[in-house]
Amino acid sequence: MVVRASAYADELVQTAKTIASPGRGILAMDESNATCGKRLASIGLENTEANRQAYRTLLISAPGLGQYISGAILFEETLYQSTVDGKKIVDILVEQGIVPGIKVDKGLVPLAGSNDESWCQGLDGLASREAAYYEAGARFAKWRTVVSIPNGPSALAVKEAAWGLARYAAISQENGLVPIVEPEILLDGEHGIERTFEVAQKVWAETFYYMAENNVMFEGILLKPSMVTPGAECEDRATPEQVADYTLKLLHRRIPPAVPGIMFLSGGQSEVEATQNLNAMNQGPNPWHVSFSYARALQNTCLKTWAGRPENVKAAQDALLLRAKANSLAQLGKYTS
Ligand code: 13P
Repeated sequence: MVVRASAYADELVQTAKTIASPGRGILAMDESNATCGKRLASIGLENTEANRQAYRTLLISAPGLGQYISGAILFEETLYQSTVDGKKIVDILVEQGIVPGIKVDKGLVPLAGSNDESWCQGLDGLASREAAYYEAGARFAKWRTVVSIPNGPSALAVKEAAWGLARYAAISQENGLVPIVEPEILLDGEHGIERTFEVAQKVWAETFYYMAENNVMFEGILLKPSMVTPGAECEDRATPEQVADYTLKLLHRRIPPAVPGIMFLSGGQSEVEATQNLNAMNQGPNPWHVSFSYARALQNTCLKTWAGRPENVKAAQDALLLRAKANSLAQLGKYTS
């Protein structure tokens, strides 16, 4: 059987290359309204559309952000939003040289028949939603599913996560969006780094197996893995060099060199830890662009500095730029604390 290539094949390859360009990574700012509400509550703000708009305008209009950031993942509300001055958020991103992306999954729900594990919804109607997102200016997509180590992971949960990611990736490529493939292995647990490594090998083996079965073009995807670390409650902590060794070993064993970029999530690591770990992974040549797609590790200090006050906008943008620049240097293996 001959499978027809996506009509967007060339564009997908180009978009993925642009995002995976030297010294740049992704700003994840696609918190759902519920998660964004938690972030705003931490600085005493109400979860209103106006507050979300003010915060996200601050992020994307930080002067010179595009030097360090190649893509921004948006929540649907932001894709269609304008700033208070009436300028479209998507247009500001494009002016900054940042590719707009969109979170397309519909979140996690309990996986029946498993050990209290989850699966990710959102395949129904995905093709038509993605066609509309492309029209609105999005050029890449993100789908985050999770795997829990303390709860298993069961073979069922891993298979469901991998299959869902593969179907999403194929549908996204059909609609012109580069899929970011994100099976997050949650940090929770007392397990050591070896256990995380073992689970990650299984998850990525299945994910690539099903992506191949679904005729996904590997040159037109990006990955968003968790770094291989000990569980958050494990007493044996790992140095950045150990995290880098395990994570690169995992990538070498499981990820074909056709994939242009590996954009890590920060997953609850501190801002500096996430930068140091990325830097350690870029001390030698890698077959893929090894970079970041951080939300919390780029935004935490910025959000606290802003505290919802207009007079703090510049200082908050400076805090964002500081993290963005540090991670840009880490992408090049040149970060020094
Ligand atoms: P963190 O970097 O805060 O883990 O978020 C990245 C993300 O987009 C998770 O899906």
